[in-house]
Amino acid sequence: MATFRILLTPGDGIGPEVLEESLKVLGRIEKRFKHEFQYEEETIGGAAIDKYGVALRPETVAKAKASAAVLFGAVGGPKWDDPKATVRPEDAILGMRKQLGLFANLRPVRINPEMIGESTLKPEVLEGVDMVVIRELTGGLYFGTPKRRWESASGRQAVDTLRYSEKEIERVCHVAFGLARQRRKKVTSVDKANVLRTGQLWREVATEIGKQYPDVELEHILVDACAMYLVRKPASFDVIVTENMFGDILTDEAAMLAGSMGMMPSASLGRRKKDGTGIGLYEPIHGSAPDITGQKKANPLAMILSAAMMLRLSLGLEAEAAAIEVAVDAVIKDGYRTPDIAGKGAKVVDTARMGTLVAERL
Ligand code: NAD
Ligand code: IPM
Ligand code: MN
Repeated sequence: MATFRILLTPGDGIGPEVLEESLKVLGRIEKRFKHEFQYEEETIGGAAIDKYGVALRPETVAKAKASAAVLFGAVGGPKWDDPKATVRPEDAILGMRKQLGLFANLRPVRINPEMIGESTLKPEVLEGVDMVVIRELTGGLYFGTPKRRWESASGRQAVDTLRYSEKEIERVCHVAFGLARQRRKKVTSVDKANVLRTGQLWREVATEIGKQYPDVELEHILVDACAMYLVRKPASFDVIVTENMFGDILTDEAAMLAGSMGMMPSASLGRRKKDGTGIGLYEPIHGSAPDITGQKKANPLAMILSAAMMLRLSLGLEAEAAAIEVAVDAVIKDGYRTPDIAGKGAKVVDTARMGTLVAERL
């Protein structure tokens, strides 16, 4: 019997609500496949600000480093949103990514055929959509310095810094090309090379790395055009690789292809071991959804699918991961929907029922 240590960080808003459902599903995986998951739980985000005065404690990071993976709910909310606040719930996720060295964020966008008719986009546009966006996660505008606000004679000012080194671009491009090799062998590198120096460096380095993967087609597109193509011909993408901020924005847009933020899982990865596994942080791309917190409306599928990615990419449990994905598809096929994805004739269920339905399938 294999045992794995997993750190749980439920966070704020719907974070704890959806995380609980992924645990239900993992409980079935333990039984069916005879594994043992040893959980530890840590308070992070706004809840940690209330309890400890900071969003992420060093103890929490140490526990994460001693685990095989982190299952992360969501952080943030109106209570901690004051623009003048010096501690912010979001420090928890940014600190985890940086301190665990998780530089590559995989955000798969797969469209379930059963849900095509319920999207805000036309069915013929969605036909065949199956892409992974790889977002650089520990560089760029999020982390560059200087980063500060100050008062000057002419009024308030602020600066953020967009800086990339070639090493940072190289390693995330290798992840993209490596993944494309296992898929349809196409990488789209997204930048703003017509204006930004970082964009020019990005394009140059992506081209150089691409030469090491002659079997993979490489295309470059500008980020503004990419935003347009994502809703115009999304099926043309296989693997997209882009810098931190562009990846953040483009993946919320891409979530609408899948029907809802509640359908989009993610994996944040750093350096890998020889067998391809390694520590990772797994979270839905959505936030704490304050508008629906406590109403039992949250869709837990993004969190459940993130747990599946954890099994595959950090624990090396491919069959178990695939079993969860099959179970999710089956529940969708049977017509069960949380309110965010419910079209005409759907069997509308709440958060807990959706989690139970997936677990029962296992
Ligand atoms: P959000 O993703 O929380 O919500 C956007 C919209 O999508 C809302 O209408 C919400 O109800 C809906 N939605 C999101 N997840 C859903 C789910 N699972 N099921 C059904 N509907 C869902 O984004 P926001 O409102 O811009 O941000 C709220 C807070 O979350 C902010 O404080 C933000 O900083 C934080 N945030 C955290 C993370 C994270 O922890 N990784 C990610 C994004 C945003
Ligand atoms: C995401 C979120 C985070 C980000 C926030 C909460 C810091 O929007 O994971 O997409 O911007 O990276
Ligand atoms: Mn985001």
